[in-house]
Amino acid sequence: MGNPQTIWYNHQKQLVETIDQRKLPFQNLIIEIGTLEEAGNAISEMVVRGAPLIGVTAGYGMYLAARYYAGNDFQAEMKLVAEKLKSTRPTAVNLAFAVDEALSVISGQISISENVKKLFDYAENLKQREIGFSKNIGKHGLEIIKAVSETKNGEPVQILTHCNAGRLACVELGTATAPIYLAHEAGIPVHVWVDETRPRNQGARLTAWELGEAGIPHTIIPDNTGGHLMQHKMVDMVIVGSDRATLNGDVANKIGTYLKALAAADNGIPFYVALPSTTIDWTLNDGIAEIPIEQRNASEVSVMEGLLDGEVHEFSILPAKSAVANYGFDVTPARLVTGLITERGVCNATREGILKLFPEKANR
Ligand code: MRU
Repeated sequence: MGNPQTIWYNHQKQLVETIDQRKLPFQNLIIEIGTLEEAGNAISEMVVRGAPLIGVTAGYGMYLAARYYAGNDFQAEMKLVAEKLKSTRPTAVNLAFAVDEALSVISGQISISENVKKLFDYAENLKQREIGFSKNIGKHGLEIIKAVSETKNGEPVQILTHCNAGRLACVELGTATAPIYLAHEAGIPVHVWVDETRPRNQGARLTAWELGEAGIPHTIIPDNTGGHLMQHKMVDMVIVGSDRATLNGDVANKIGTYLKALAAADNGIPFYVALPSTTIDWTLNDGIAEIPIEQRNASEVSVMEGLLDGEVHEFSILPAKSAVANYGFDVTPARLVTGLITERGVCNATREGILKLFPEKANR
């Protein structure tokens, strides 16, 4: 698997390195991020993607911006940098969380080089926090998988997931996949139904690759297959990640997640959302009305990549004159969510449930 982390600071080269996720599964390439612009492009071009990893990359982006700062109003410049980074991808709140937190460590009372050091430490610290969050999400989610497994007479627990909320979306382990990795390690038989996740196919390209590397049994399915599987009792539970959740338990995740939640509810199948607290937007109460939904380029829908004679090629797959809409995310209302798996435990997708685990957020 190589480096189990998805992003790291290379002290010898003095820059950040990450996996170029646009190239997987055909090529496993490391790409360097040495400037603010490269960090911003890596996020907007989806070299890195997935809410926690976007946040950590933005943290390093703030550090890189400060390192090369050469103007005369450091604090004002860093505020502009923060806005620039935030605009690269609007839905995943981890990005805004990271740049705002990074801004809060900057001080006018110390030198720029001391601020640069603080920002570096902040980025490294955020990365370590995300690793810890994933581990704890894994532990709490594992208990749910264990309980389902006890009803299965040794048969694999059938888990459906959408998009990639795996280690590639985080730093290690993932969110939705963390309990799956731990269950597999603990010898609990699991099988994962992997939604291909059009248009960018993060499920087929990334989740399947990750699970394959870890030796976890999985099957890739076209996006519209889940409902049929659920009707035929071929899915025991759904676990997905999230890009932004509201205080009342609504969750934004990759487009198509809502339809899986509807199908799960119709078939009495538990639908869990695994997310660190860095994905909760404590200021919002109504996901459908308030979460900004990213719209991306039509070419993600109209052009697909694939291998031909061992080489990667792009293929146009639509009539050239047809209009295309490409909404990146949708919102699953809290009423369809069985539980939120967080780093502090599992809770109901309600204001009360969330605040029971995070009481310090109650008076915001
Ligand atoms: O557009 P992407 O690939 O960044 O979308 C990612 C997702 O929707 C993930 O499910 C989400 O970020 C959860 S990450 C642990």
